[in-house]
Amino acid sequence: MDIDQYLSEKQAALDKGADRIRNFEVFDFNYVPEKPLMREEVKPVIDALLRYQQTGIANNVLVLGSRGSGKSVLARCLMNLMSQQGQAAFAYANCRQHNTSVKILAALLGLRPRGSSLDELWQRFENAHEGRVVFVLDEVDLISEKDRHKDILYLLSRSTRNYMAVLLSNNPKFLNLLDESIKSTLQPEIVHFRNYDATEIERILLDRARIGLKTTPAGTPSEIAAMTARNTNSDVRVAIKTLYLWALEPQTAIAEHFEKARRDIMFDVIRDLNDRNLLILRAVLDESDGFAKDVYETYRRRSAQVHEEPFSYMHFYSNLSYLQSLGLLVLISTKVNRTYTNRIQLTFDPSILDAVWTMRFA
Ligand SMILES: Nc1ncnc2c1ncn2[C@@H]1O[C@H](COP(=O)(O)OP(=O)(O)OP(=O)(O)O)[C@@H](O)[C@H]1O
Ligand SMILES: [Mg+2]
Repeated sequence: MDIDQYLSEKQAALDKGADRIRNFEVFDFNYVPEKPLMREEVKPVIDALLRYQQTGIANNVLVLGSRGSGKSVLARCLMNLMSQQGQAAFAYANCRQHNTSVKILAALLGLRPRGSSLDELWQRFENAHEGRVVFVLDEVDLISEKDRHKDILYLLSRSTRNYMAVLLSNNPKFLNLLDESIKSTLQPEIVHFRNYDATEIERILLDRARIGLKTTPAGTPSEIAAMTARNTNSDVRVAIKTLYLWALEPQTAIAEHFEKARRDIMFDVIRDLNDRNLLILRAVLDESDGFAKDVYETYRRRSAQVHEEPFSYMHFYSNLSYLQSLGLLVLISTKVNRTYTNRIQLTFDPSILDAVWTMRFA
């Protein structure tokens, strides 16, 4: 087959696939369904928000859960529902996009971040919002290391206006990143979103298929859900993307679409890592035996090569569990000479890391 032929055949197949899709929007990861699948763990968040509305006493919440466990979508759904009732004002910022306290406040005020000091911005915010405000800081662990003390959290916890904070993160060690003083004034209630099981993922997929596809495929959502629960940390993004790819090209095996979806999403995750975490993964790849201590030494050497200050062993270790929660590696306890030690194993195709590495450091 020559190039033209392949191109026109593929184009025709995709056009046919596109006919099967009624609504492309539901396959966008930022889509907020009218009725997301309820999960028990949302209840304490709703309760805390209602208590705040009633009493005005801030009840800060930290929602932890792995990637694609519904933290953002459920927060956004709650904001829609509760602001419709006209009760609390929400101030939402994604800390990946706005990664310092100044940038977050400037975005909330609709200003440019340059030229204003943090205190000035905070003052303006307080002057503009005398009533109850719930700050929803999504991906809060991505506040930059430049913003060492995460000042916005300090300001929030000390605010005389009694603002409330809802923080979302997929880093289980997020609290360890905070200064003691902030931790003790913020005192968040911690809510863990556990990973979805296959049945829950299937229900989410069935709902997307109902709105997004012209015909609801029998059996396909359950097959995709089972693969997602088995082979990822139940990352619903992978499931949704697989369903989408499958709808476009139903003649290709689901397993193939699933692998592609997983790969694409892994690529995004790895590309979004900071340099130090990328260096850790690189060291795991370089150090074939995978013993944590050896990997740490390799990591230090690699860091020196790119003039990056390495983490201490303790920080290195807590980043390993972060990387584990992102589904990028697993720690396996192994017995060596009568003591137990951890071996690190990557859980993705190393060529993805090579590609990102080249983009970043080559
Ligand atoms: N309960 C749910 N009902 C409907 N859709 C859901 C639900 N949970 C997750 N999803 C869908 O799965 C995808 C991932 O969810 P979401 O973005 O909320 O994950 P997250 O926990 O915020 O992940 P991350 O840690 O990467 O930010 C989104 O497209 C979202 O709409
Ligand atoms: Mg999110």
